[in-house]
Amino acid sequence: MHTDQLIASFRSAGQGQVFSFWESLDAAGRAALVAQAREIDLAEVARLNRTLVLKTAGVAGVDLSGLTPAPCTMLPENGGDAAQWSAARAAGEAALRAGRVGVFTVAGGQGTRLGYDGPKGTFAVTPLKGKSLFQVFAEKIKAAGLRYGRPLHWFIMTSHANHEQTEQFFAAHRYFGLDRARVHCFRQGRMPAVDFAGKLLLESPGSLALSPDGHGGSLRALHRSGALDLMQSEGIDTLSYFQVDNPLIRCVDPAFIGFHLLAGSGMSSKMVPKAYAEEKVGHFCLQNGKVVVIEYSDMPLAMQRETNPDGSLRYSAGSIAIHIIDREFARRMAGGADAQKPETGNLKAEDSDPNASLPSSSGFRSQVSGFPAAAAAALPFHRADKKIATVDAAGRPVKPDKPNGVKFEMFVFDALPFAQNSVVIETARADDFSPVKNAEGVDSPKTSKEDQMRQFARWLLAAGAKVEVDATGLPAGRVEVSPLFGYDAETFAERWSRLPAKPAVTEGLYLE
Ligand code: UD1
Repeated sequence: MHTDQLIASFRSAGQGQVFSFWESLDAAGRAALVAQAREIDLAEVARLNRTLVLKTAGVAGVDLSGLTPAPCTMLPENGGDAAQWSAARAAGEAALRAGRVGVFTVAGGQGTRLGYDGPKGTFAVTPLKGKSLFQVFAEKIKAAGLRYGRPLHWFIMTSHANHEQTEQFFAAHRYFGLDRARVHCFRQGRMPAVDFAGKLLLESPGSLALSPDGHGGSLRALHRSGALDLMQSEGIDTLSYFQVDNPLIRCVDPAFIGFHLLAGSGMSSKMVPKAYAEEKVGHFCLQNGKVVVIEYSDMPLAMQRETNPDGSLRYSAGSIAIHIIDREFARRMAGGADAQKPETGNLKAEDSDPNASLPSSSGFRSQVSGFPAAAAAALPFHRADKKIATVDAAGRPVKPDKPNGVKFEMFVFDALPFAQNSVVIETARADDFSPVKNAEGVDSPKTSKEDQMRQFARWLLAAGAKVEVDATGLPAGRVEVSPLFGYDAETFAERWSRLPAKPAVTEGLYLE
């Protein structure tokens, strides 16, 4: 579309303010603004304004009708069928040995709660060595690749804000020993922010206020980056998905992968029983026969507190944002089901974007623009009222001290009800979940380091070592185990048993 037509289309959509400072912009400034404006799907903005922003009565509510707790496959120690777990594990291991599994980390978030300036994956989390989240995952992925004889591909979704820094971090650390050709960073899409009247906000006279489209944007980013095609050509049909904030994660869990594959599931999930009724996690529920996640903020407190006759919580299955995703399911959710290659229309649009990085020789693209022109993702958008830096009528910067507008985000778990045969399995919190979200208090660097050390102590104790621990299982001295030594109880025990001399477990013990 010609620039004049583009500007006219914004005017007739009531969004002419985007070009308020056009006369004051130089040629480069105009080109940059036009490139951003081309990312905007005005029809989608109008629809979101109608459904989420301008609606005054009965604020866009989440449908809570007909909810029941989702059925979950429990761990053998909590009543699950041990034979079924071993069969699942065997199936998952076979898939790993066949090279069918890839790893996927969403790392595009802004990490504002932690107050850390930099991509969250670069944050130091381990108790002794201060390894970064990315290093912990890299070492787990490397160790699993060695164990199953097939090095794994690792897909990392970044944002426009942290993409370059993330790539530089990996390069500076030589990809933590991984084959760099198997580490793929790509940017997620962006969404424009609007004020409470639905007007697109400018961040500066020459640029729109754009923000990441939520982790739900990962499905279309996988598609548009070429990651799904790369997976297909590498024979990978199954993705192990997790968030960047959780160092305890089992990056590849054979039993989980096996349950997903044996069920023929499109997308599967792990749950932990909630620690207490008001714990701030999503809840796995069943609605119209489909698995859904209802966020704590959307579920009335009375419902969160409902109990079964035996006193246990009725909605106990908490979401820890760990999933297995089938490649073709992701493609379908990204709107690319009919296309073996990403839509050529989109590729053209992208190539004309001056910000777009060029496809690499493998056809992989690290740049994903905001709106896929044709691909209407089926995921809904959620509204988040935020303080959005903008400009006043004179073009001067405004830093609001209270929310002044709305950002739009998609959530990956909203894909669950579209998945066939979705399964939810239980996992032990102590072995899978201790995220770093807040600077202090719950889910902080301190709690996460302690949980890591408790896990190392359990492995040591199970392997027969002498470890002094307190009532919570925390060892008396700080210890750390490299994932390359062992990344779960079993791999740890194997390696420990081969040590010719067992070290004493005292302050500062690091096993690699
Ligand atoms: C999330 C889940 C919650 C779950 C909890 C478990 C939502 C809305 N809620 O909460 O159900 O119980 O985790 O830890 O997700 N990210 C992107 N791009 C974005 C936004 C986020 O990549 O645009 C990534 C972040 O980098 C992070 C992850 O998504 O890895 C989670 O984002 P965050 O906003 O921190 O979710 P929570 O509110 O902690």
